[in-house]
Amino acid sequence: MANPISIQNIKEAVDLIRTGRLVAFPTETVYGLAGDATNSDAVAAIFKIKGRPSFNPLIIHVCSLAEAEKLVIFNDVARSLAENFWPGALTLVLPRRENCPVSLLAGSGLETLAIRIPKSEIALKFLQAVKLPIAAPSANKSGSVSPTKAEHVLESLGDSIDLILDGGTCQIGIESTIIDLSTNDPCVLRTGGIPIESLERQLENIQIVKGVDHSPKAPGMLSRHYATTIPLRMNAEEVYDGEALLAFGGRPLGPAVAIANLSRAGDVNEAAANLFDMMRKLDKPEYKGIAVMEIPNVGLGVAINDRLQRACH
Ligand code: TXA
Ligand code: MG
Repeated sequence: MANPISIQNIKEAVDLIRTGRLVAFPTETVYGLAGDATNSDAVAAIFKIKGRPSFNPLIIHVCSLAEAEKLVIFNDVARSLAENFWPGALTLVLPRRENCPVSLLAGSGLETLAIRIPKSEIALKFLQAVKLPIAAPSANKSGSVSPTKAEHVLESLGDSIDLILDGGTCQIGIESTIIDLSTNDPCVLRTGGIPIESLERQLENIQIVKGVDHSPKAPGMLSRHYATTIPLRMNAEEVYDGEALLAFGGRPLGPAVAIANLSRAGDVNEAAANLFDMMRKLDKPEYKGIAVMEIPNVGLGVAINDRLQRACH
């Protein structure tokens, strides 16, 4: 375990997974901590290493729609979304099949499973080679900022995993959008890498319930999450003494003890890709806190503001 970063060593990763070990891998959203979803011991190890409460279920990753259909029961809406957005940053919550081989622990005993096909090339190659459904939460300690680079995983979990597939920086940088399709009304449980506007365009006449703040159904979303160790505040109009600034756009506030700019051009996609890395960089005990400038609540800005909201308390 001395040097768990290995460049695209997919075969080694596959061998580890098949013997019940855990591996971190890059997706287009964030790095995931992967284990064989059909192996309860591997799944238990994921919860243990992350320090994650066992009532908070994991997302199952597969490499094709056919594989997904073996695990959960699709309806027309689910199929339409899968065909249009997979591989991609969309997670569907659907009823488990009766003979679904995924460990009950992975789904925290629920009758539904959250499932997605990730888009990054390494993730897809890994999933195709391993030929198993992969349970993978974000590869960080529970409640902390998600990893968008291999070195973030190393900092957070390096001692406890065998291998990190290094795919560089995650392209989207914010977790997948989760939509619950297990009941009659599609309900967004977590905003994320696919903007809700894009889903609505696809579904035309179907109403999407934005349950993010009200629903107890994505248990991980209720608590303080994505937290920095120093205080963070949003929509800052000035920088207080001793604070670091997380800026957005061409006219950063100032002065500040440290500055990181999410996007000088004011582009929310660029800001999403930079968010977690910059939150980590400014999260230093010598700063009094992090002041974050206003970020427009459109497109990926909605998911960015959701993560910031959960980080500030
Ligand atoms: O982009 C992502 O989704 C990343 C990458 C690695 O795929 N994964 C990720 O996993 O963000 P995690 O464990 O950090 O977040 C999974 C979320 C949690 O909020 C959990 O409560 C919710 O998915 N979830 C999982 N299964 C569910 C289910 N059956 N019903 C409702 N929510 C579920
Ligand atoms: Mg997470």
